[in-house]
Amino acid sequence: MNKRSWAEPFKIKMVEPLRMTTPDEREAAIAGAGFNTFLLRSEDVYIDLLTDSGTSAMSDRQWAGLMLGDEAYAGSVNYYHLEDAVHRYYGYKHLIPTHQGRGAEHILSRMMIKPGDVVPGNMYFTTTRAHQELAGGRFVDIIGDAAHDVTSTEPFKGNVDLKKLQAVIDTYGPSKIPYVNLQCCVNMAGGQPVSMENIAAVGALCHRHGIKVMLDATRAVENAYFIKVREPGYAKKSIEEILREICSHTDGCTNSAKKDSLVNIGGFLCVNDDALAEEARNMVVLFEGLHTYGGLAGRDMEVMAIGIAESVQYDHIRARIGQVEYLGGLLEKAGVPIIRPIGGHGVFLDALKFLPHIPRDQFPAQALAAALYVESGVRTMERGAVSAGRDPDTRQNIFPKLELVRLTIPRRVYTQAHMDVTAESIITLFEEPERVVGLRFTSEPKYLRFFQARFEPTQGDLVLNRSAKAGAASAR
Ligand code: F0G
Repeated sequence: MNKRSWAEPFKIKMVEPLRMTTPDEREAAIAGAGFNTFLLRSEDVYIDLLTDSGTSAMSDRQWAGLMLGDEAYAGSVNYYHLEDAVHRYYGYKHLIPTHQGRGAEHILSRMMIKPGDVVPGNMYFTTTRAHQELAGGRFVDIIGDAAHDVTSTEPFKGNVDLKKLQAVIDTYGPSKIPYVNLQCCVNMAGGQPVSMENIAAVGALCHRHGIKVMLDATRAVENAYFIKVREPGYAKKSIEEILREICSHTDGCTNSAKKDSLVNIGGFLCVNDDALAEEARNMVVLFEGLHTYGGLAGRDMEVMAIGIAESVQYDHIRARIGQVEYLGGLLEKAGVPIIRPIGGHGVFLDALKFLPHIPRDQFPAQALAAALYVESGVRTMERGAVSAGRDPDTRQNIFPKLELVRLTIPRRVYTQAHMDVTAESIITLFEEPERVVGLRFTSEPKYLRFFQARFEPTQGDLVLNRSAKAGAASAR
């Protein structure tokens, strides 16, 4: 037999026990959390697929690096290690560390956006758009139509539609466009990558008009992997080379190091322009901390430097995306409606197809995430109308084309057996979708409402009615 199974490229040195709960306990927990998985206590969660953000397992080398923290207020040696790693792997000239990605977005938005500006981007991300709007700007979506189409299987669904970008430039003029925000492995589209050809074309078009391109490099390493395996001409290039090439077409980046870079906290802003770097260093002192620590401990910067180097290793990234594809493959085989191609950081369920009986204004993806938790203790998150929020002008709910539940896979944390359990519980729900009940708001926060909103079922008290099928209960 020639078959060789795939396995995680690490062995486990330390374990963290998981707590199993009963369906009764989970019904009480989700009701107490206002049917919002963000408001659950993590001790009530069995397999936590809420996010891949800050949830990675660190390597033994990173844990060793923690002990090398130089906690000097200024000029910590760890800052210089981080600077070396960012120069080597991302290639930008100036590094400004921040406590996480949105710290970098805040500084970038504040220093570059004037009231009345527009910021084109390949789909919005929640925190990114919120900071653009707080600075007086407006986000304009320039992603290709394929990204909004759950049936499209294009390999680079994150690509910018260059005609849409040109139209925005023609309509508003370059003086109203402080920069184009180019996101790698577009999160809200299902972790869909951007091709190198498209990145280069966006860079060239913007630079012809004197417009800067700022990369959201949060998942740029995952994007580099997809370029390697999907784009002609890149199969023989290393992830490291591809990552640098991506960045070379842009003028700077924001990065949430809590994802690709394998740390539990941290982020950074990079720019090539000297004057912008000076402005960013002035601002980081106000909002984050001195420019050589940006809200982080020395040890945090050390583990980030090590994590960045580990993130570009081929075995690591292949296994990381391989695990996501493994889970997606199990669901696909069972006919569960998911976004295809399977993205980099998670599998996204199409809640509109999964729960056709729940109208959009009863938030099917929110209901599905809550119901899945009750079913099996697996925690996921809504990425649909609740996340999209309200139109800043009309204050009406935005109903994006995609109404998704995200099963986000932390890096190096779970095994394939956890993926099996997750898939089985989703398939169980998929066999009896009418058990799931829609939701309505009972409280709605003003900013980034999905994090703290509370809901109630539109009928009865349960988001998931008990199964009529005997024995169809769940992982206990
Ligand atoms: N950009 C992207 C594409 C992100 O996915 C995130 C965070 C950020 C910026 C902000 O970074 O959290 O470090 O402040 N995404 C997390 C998620 C929250 O669950 O997708 P942050």
